[in-house]
Amino acid sequence: MKKIGFLVIVAIWAGVLVAHQGREHTKPDTPISLLPAPEMDAQINLDYVNQIRPIWEKKCFACHAKNQELPWYAVIPGIRQIILWDIWKAQEHLDLSDNFPFGGHGTPAEDLEAILEMLAQSNMPPLRYQIFHWDSGLTPNEKAQVHRWALDSLLSIKPKFQETH
Ligand code: HEC
Repeated sequence: MKKIGFLVIVAIWAGVLVAHQGREHTKPDTPISLLPAPEMDAQINLDYVNQIRPIWEKKCFACHAKNQELPWYAVIPGIRQIILWDIWKAQEHLDLSDNFPFGGHGTPAEDLEAILEMLAQSNMPPLRYQIFHWDSGLTPNEKAQVHRWALDSLLSIKPKFQETH
């Protein structure tokens, strides 16, 4: 009888230890969003449509979305080919036509990383476009807004992401 009592106590202690260790193990070092991927995409898209898309419609859609009007100077032979090439290439990389998750070759996380990279390099829209569309560059406020959205969104799908810039 004594022996059984001892075993019961050992078993309870073992249970407590295992349970405790289990908790330690699953404790994340960064908060992980509990939403499943489609719902997370929907949340990211909601913020995108409200905050970012209005800016991008004016400054990025000419190349990154389908069925846009070509600029007036597309009538100039030679220039027209460059514009069409740009549009094709832009959408191969990042197609904004159908909101988030975006089309193009990247996964949602890769697209968000490319957007952060684009902000760090300040290379979009390309200079050749800004020469004709002098107000198409992102203002400091718009850059900050896009940065916040892209980083928050990326961290919600890739909690371990660390910006290198
Ligand atoms: C004149 C056309 C044009 C405009 C306008 C334009 N882009 Fe681009 N974009 C391109 C092209 C072409 C590429 C492909 C990479 C390259 O060849 O530079 C690209 C690539 C990118 C990429 C990299 C995608 C990847 O997967 O590597 C991002 C991000 C991007 N653009 C964002 C934007 C944003 C945001 C805007 C508006 C502020 C914008 N672009 C405006 C033409 C354009």
